[in-house]
Amino acid sequence: MTLTSEGVTSLAERYRDRLPLAADAKIVSLGEGSTPLLPAPRLSERTSAKVWLKWEGANPTGSFKDRGMTVAVTQALAEGARSVVCASTGNTAASAAAYAARAGLEAVILQPEGAVARAKLAQARAVGAKVQTRASFEDALAEAKELEAAGTHVLVNSLNPLRLQGQKTAAFEIAEELGGVPDVLALPYGGGGNLCAYAIGFGELGPLPRFVAAQAENRAGTAASAIRIVEPAHEAGAQRALADSGGAAPSIPDEAILNAWRLLAREEGLFCEPSSAAGLAALLADPPRGARVVCVITGHGLKDPDAVA
Ligand code: F0G
Repeated sequence: MTLTSEGVTSLAERYRDRLPLAADAKIVSLGEGSTPLLPAPRLSERTSAKVWLKWEGANPTGSFKDRGMTVAVTQALAEGARSVVCASTGNTAASAAAYAARAGLEAVILQPEGAVARAKLAQARAVGAKVQTRASFEDALAEAKELEAAGTHVLVNSLNPLRLQGQKTAAFEIAEELGGVPDVLALPYGGGGNLCAYAIGFGELGPLPRFVAAQAENRAGTAASAIRIVEPAHEAGAQRALADSGGAAPSIPDEAILNAWRLLAREEGLFCEPSSAAGLAALLADPPRGARVVCVITGHGLKDPDAVA
């Protein structure tokens, strides 16, 4: 691990040689990355596989989004931006808002009506972001893209390629800790950016793990609000990653997602938000017997305490 001049562990310093950042860019960090890879003995027994959990809720704002945001906001600052914008179901918003505050930039958040867990909204507001509501994620994203096209704001959704560059570092950490690439990598599939990021990261190391990208059966109305996205922005890239890895994108009913979410909490002590358990739900539905499996747990349970009730 590397320490920055500010004394925090910085993902961009740790993997600087594999990230497209200007040599003199001042890194905007909150100490993201280097998250735990936890063995999951009970879930291993249930699936007859060897399962590890990549605990991304341990990032500074409580989700994997911080990996990409440090890189995107670092670059935005280096290029003289004044303001960043994103459309978000909440986690991208919380992350963009925090890194923008850290960098001294304005953050504009466009959120879909009724689809954002309260704690995520509180996170964005607490650090001073301007939050506005639109009818759907798709409407919010279209407007965020317009602001970018107008040249007034830097888009920090995962359509910004630097987001995926930052997020790919989770693949490096996993491979370093396991001493190689796992057989299977399971994760939730909302817009598909994170799947594409893992495909980039593992692709830089060698052969891909088989991706199990779990999507909500009811994309428009799932209780897993973080992945309530009808049109995945990265669908083409996601399909390519699945084809290249021999993977699949199973559709998971909400009941199975919520069952996996409860199981993860009760059997392994890990409290995540419901959408984060989608990958586990897919593994439980179709156990990859005998395989070495990493299941990515994308966000912290404290982000959506209402789900517990
Ligand atoms: N898990 C969590 C906790 C998320 O917040 C998201 C996406 C995903 C999984 C899916 O990742 O979109 O790369 O396939 N959240 C976005 C947001 C949409 O606005 O915070 P993906």
